[in-house]
Amino acid sequence: MTPDPIPSPNIWNDPQIYEVENHAVDRSERIEAAMLTHRPIADARLLDLGCGSGFHLERWVDYGARSVIGCEPHTPLVAAARARVAALPPQKAARIEVVQAGAEDLPLPDGSVDVMQARWAYFFGSGCEPGLAELDRVMAPGGVAFVIDNDASVPSTFGTWFATAYPAYDDVATERFWSRAGWERQVVPITWEFDRRADLEDVVRIEFPPAAAEQIIAGHDGLVVDYSVVLRTRRW
Ligand SMILES: C[S@@+](CC[C@H](N)C(=O)[O-])C[C@H]1O[C@@H](n2cnc3c(N)ncnc32)[C@H](O)[C@@H]1O
Repeated sequence: MTPDPIPSPNIWNDPQIYEVENHAVDRSERIEAAMLTHRPIADARLLDLGCGSGFHLERWVDYGARSVIGCEPHTPLVAAARARVAALPPQKAARIEVVQAGAEDLPLPDGSVDVMQARWAYFFGSGCEPGLAELDRVMAPGGVAFVIDNDASVPSTFGTWFATAYPAYDDVATERFWSRAGWERQVVPITWEFDRRADLEDVVRIEFPPAAAEQIIAGHDGLVVDYSVVLRTRRW
């Protein structure tokens, strides 16, 4: 039986604000540029695992993916992702499918995925072994999987906020887990860039506990936040 999805209160409870956050994250697409140094996306069969409301699905078509599967277990987000795809031009929509499933039990044939990306979804470290086993099954020879998550190794404004607000997070254990599992790591400096101060404040409030959020808002001016993410990579 597929386990319950990992609770994701930011996007589950506040999908409109999470949409604003997605528009603010990495506007210059440095994450994609780093992915492309490992493997082309053009012509790939791409799996976006834990795709949420499908924010990135169109992007993969724009990067030339032959086909895109968005996989998401949370029912309201599956509906949101399907609605987003249905609103795209038909030539793009025809290349995208959204399936309801968790990373532990993928409804995909063996060896059918050339590029997998999971962005702030499921693959957080210890506990994601069932999803890693599924990757072993679905990744095609020559395929590359990418996991994007917060980085604690390089000082950044967001990293300081994260370490202060979530002191129990064990970055050393997380890094040990991934290196034992055979994944490479690369730090990618990105930013959050907002158009309005109110948007920054809304997003901070869905990402941090209330007291920490108010401290962050009071101590940070402007519309930009520097941020460091880790891009984890494994080749099949
Ligand atoms: C923080 S959101 C990120 C969504 C999307 N990747 C994005 O960047 O917009 C994490 C997502 O992982 C999904 N998730 C939770 N458990 C999962 C599982 N077992 N397998 C795959 N995705 C899962 C959540 O429902 C949520 O949509």
